[in-house]
Amino acid sequence: MSLRIGNIAPNFKIETTQGTIDFHDWAKGSWTFFFSHPADYTPVCTTEMGRTAQLAPEFEKRNVKPLGLSTDTVEEHLGWIKDVNETQNTVLEFPIVADKDKKVAELYDMIHPDEDDTAAVRSVFIIDPSMKIRLTMTYPMAVGRNFAEILRVIDALQTTDKQEVACPADWQVGHPVIIRPSVSDDDAKNKFPQGWKTLRPYLRLTNLK
Ligand code: BEZ
Repeated sequence: MSLRIGNIAPNFKIETTQGTIDFHDWAKGSWTFFFSHPADYTPVCTTEMGRTAQLAPEFEKRNVKPLGLSTDTVEEHLGWIKDVNETQNTVLEFPIVADKDKKVAELYDMIHPDEDDTAAVRSVFIIDPSMKIRLTMTYPMAVGRNFAEILRVIDALQTTDKQEVACPADWQVGHPVIIRPSVSDDDAKNKFPQGWKTLRPYLRLTNLK
């Protein structure tokens, strides 16, 4: 069965470009951006790895650790990282899982046989510091991911964890948020003293301080 939002991310122990990791030990206390890609030495994957490396300060600011995965070996990953660094003008410092036996790819349902029998599709798991899966996304092999969306959804999850709000369509940091319908107007007076705009009783917008 595939993994769902709210599930605890299954643990695994595996070789990576930075040595063997026990996933839960490695990830504990941070958010994780866990993502698979089809194969080393392929063009779209090269740009995605480069983009993840370039965004290191943005991930760090949000307490997020990136973790890549493909069904290649550590040696293949290490050779390819040199190409990523040279062609994408970056220094890739996050670990990449070497899942030659497809153990983790199968555990996380990253292999979709009607797309490819052996290589992983472009799966994304955003996992919170308590190891709960908070978001999943799956992209096909020929389409690179939108990293602005990955950062945006992390910002939105972290915002909605802090206050009883939800984020509307296309929300960005600094935009108004929705006061959750479970919060009564009386409670909202204490929780959102800055006030709000009521478009409908179930649609109240406020600006966070
Ligand atoms: C790529 O990364 O360019 C790619 C990998 C597998 C299939 C199609 C594209």
